[in-house]
Amino acid sequence: MTAPSPTVFDHLAGQLARLSSTVGLGDTGAAALDILPDLLGAAAEQQLGTGPIWPSDVADDHSPVEFSLAMDTGRAPALRLLGETISERPDVVQNAHQLRHFLQAAADRFDLSLDRFNRVADLFLPGNYDATFLLWYSLVLRPGRRPDFKVYFNPAAQGPENAREIVAEALARVGLGPAYDHLARHTLCRGDHDQPVFFALDLHDQPHSRVKVYVAHEDASAADAVRCADPINGVEADRLIDFCSVAGRTDRFSSRPLISSYTYVSPDTDRPSVYSLYLPIRDYVSDDEAARERTATVLTHNGFQPDLLDRAIRCLTDRPLAEGSGLIAHVSLRLGAAMRPGVTVYLSSEAHAVSRPRQLN
Ligand code: TRP
Repeated sequence: MTAPSPTVFDHLAGQLARLSSTVGLGDTGAAALDILPDLLGAAAEQQLGTGPIWPSDVADDHSPVEFSLAMDTGRAPALRLLGETISERPDVVQNAHQLRHFLQAAADRFDLSLDRFNRVADLFLPGNYDATFLLWYSLVLRPGRRPDFKVYFNPAAQGPENAREIVAEALARVGLGPAYDHLARHTLCRGDHDQPVFFALDLHDQPHSRVKVYVAHEDASAADAVRCADPINGVEADRLIDFCSVAGRTDRFSSRPLISSYTYVSPDTDRPSVYSLYLPIRDYVSDDEAARERTATVLTHNGFQPDLLDRAIRCLTDRPLAEGSGLIAHVSLRLGAAMRPGVTVYLSSEAHAVSRPRQLN
C-alpha cells in the first residue's frame, strides 16, 4: 500500500503549525489549526499536485491562503492568514456564501460582532459572478489571544464603475460618512488609475475595531504615495520614499500597482488614523533571494531584525530562494501618529506552484 498523497490541508496545516511555533503562538495557533478545514472549504481535501479547483486571486498560484507576518514596535509579531473559502461548487458567489455561513456559525465561539458586516453586506453580496472575488477572510493570530477575524469585500462587486459609490455608501453605513470626501480629495484623484480594491472590517467589537479602505494606484510613483498619505498625522514622507526606493525605484511602478490603505479607528470619523503602503515586491525583483534582501533592508530601516523573516521563510519551503519568485509577494509599511512604524511581509504558501524567476524589463 502506498501512503495517501498529501492534501492542500496537509500542506497548509504543516506550514501553519511551523509558523505558529516560530512566532510562539501556543494555543492561538492550535485554535487556528482547528478551524483551518472550515476556512479552506472544498480546497482542504484536494490532493497536492492536481491543480487548484478554483483560481483564487489570493495568491499567484491560486492557493486559497496567503500568510503574513506583521511586526510592530513594542508588540509581539502577529501571524495572519488571508484566504478564500472554496465551495464544493466553486464560484465567487458560492465561495462568499460559504464563508458568510461559517462566520455566522462561529460568531459565539470567537465573539465576533457581525453588526457592521450586516449593515454593509447587501452593497457587496451576492455580487457579480465575474468579479475576481466577493468575500475573503483574514485570521489574525497573536500569542495569548483568541484568533481575530477580518473580512474583505470587493468594491467592484457590482462592476468597477460602481466601486466608488459603493465605498462611499459603505463608509456612511458604518458611521464614517465624512471619510469619503477625504478619500476622494487626496487619493482617488487620478481617474481610473486610482481604484478602490478592498473594503475591510474587523469583526471584533472592541474600541480599536477598524474599518479599512484599500486603493490601488496604477503607474504611481513614490511621490504619489506621499501625496496620498499627506493629510494623515504622523506619516513621514522620507520613510515612504525610502520604502519605495528599496524596490529599486521611486518613479513609476508600472507592473503590479502600489496600494494604499486607510485605517479608520473610532472615534475619528472624518480622517484615517493610519496609512499603509503595499509594495508588490515580487514584480520588481528577479527572484526570492533578491526579494528577501530588499525586504530585510525594509525591516532594518524601520527598526526590526530580519531573523524572524528568515525563520518564517524556512517554515514554508526549503528550496533555494533564487530558484523561484513570488514567495515574498508584498511588503507593507504602516505609519501613523499613534504608533511607531510597522512592517508586514506577505508570504506565499506555494501549495500549487512555484513561480519561476522573472526577467525584469
Ligand atoms: N494576490 C492579489 C494581489 O497580489 C491580492 C492580494 C493578496 C493582496 N495579498 C495582498 C493585495 C496584499 C495587496 C496586499 O494583488
